[in-house]
Amino acid sequence: MELITKPIIFIIFSLLISLSSASVVDFCVADFNFPVGPAGFPCKNPANLSVNDFVFSGLGVAGNTSNIFNVAVTSANDNSFPGVNGLGISMARLDIGVGGVVPLHTHRASEVIIVIHGTIIAGFIASDNTVYFKTLNKGDVMIFPQSLLHFQVNIGKNQALAFVSLNSAHAGFQFTSASLGGNDLPTEIIEKITLLDSQQIKTLKNVFGGTN
Ligand SMILES: *[C@@H]1O[C@H](CO)[C@@H](O)[C@H](O)[C@H]1NC(C)=O
Ligand SMILES: *[C@@H]1O[C@H](CO)[C@@H](O)[C@H](O)[C@H]1NC(C)=O
Repeated sequence: MELITKPIIFIIFSLLISLSSASVVDFCVADFNFPVGPAGFPCKNPANLSVNDFVFSGLGVAGNTSNIFNVAVTSANDNSFPGVNGLGISMARLDIGVGGVVPLHTHRASEVIIVIHGTIIAGFIASDNTVYFKTLNKGDVMIFPQSLLHFQVNIGKNQALAFVSLNSAHAGFQFTSASLGGNDLPTEIIEKITLLDSQQIKTLKNVFGGTN
């Protein structure tokens, strides 16, 4: 009896050891020495990992809202938080000054927001152009389904604070006005493809640094 069980126990034990040494496939911490692609960064060599790769400490501090939209978005995504690379998840902190906005934008991930303090109007535009928007207060949570245009506006008397989570580590933010104005596509073409007039396009190009 013992002659048989001992080798079996040994085999099982060796199998467990080999499985546990293969456990680095549990994650793929970003190696910032390589360029990012649609699937994120290549994996950092496991020999160089530390717990700090899995911790991001930047969301306790308000961002600088001195800009045209009076807003700061501080992201903990795979560009700044190597541990989320490849895991389909990220977070951000939104500081929205009085009257400030997170302008109309889209990304290839769903987003859930929780308001910590302040009063904001948040909404999204569905693909049939139906708009879903509502005033949110402390503790309210709203979901913005993936790839739909959405926005947040601070309508309160104080700075607003919210946190969001996205089901992507690399969501690919695209701000509509900045995309229209921050490029070198000739104004005549933008007029044709948007029905905006040339003066409106020039204004956007001036604000967002576009040319032509
Ligand atoms: C680990 O990090 C050190 C210092 O950044 C670097 O010199 C070394 O090449 C890294 N080793 C591996 C295996 O990536
Ligand atoms: C905030 O940003 C503005 C504009 O870039 C800059 O002038 C100002 O110094 C910044 N304030 C702080 C506290 O960093």
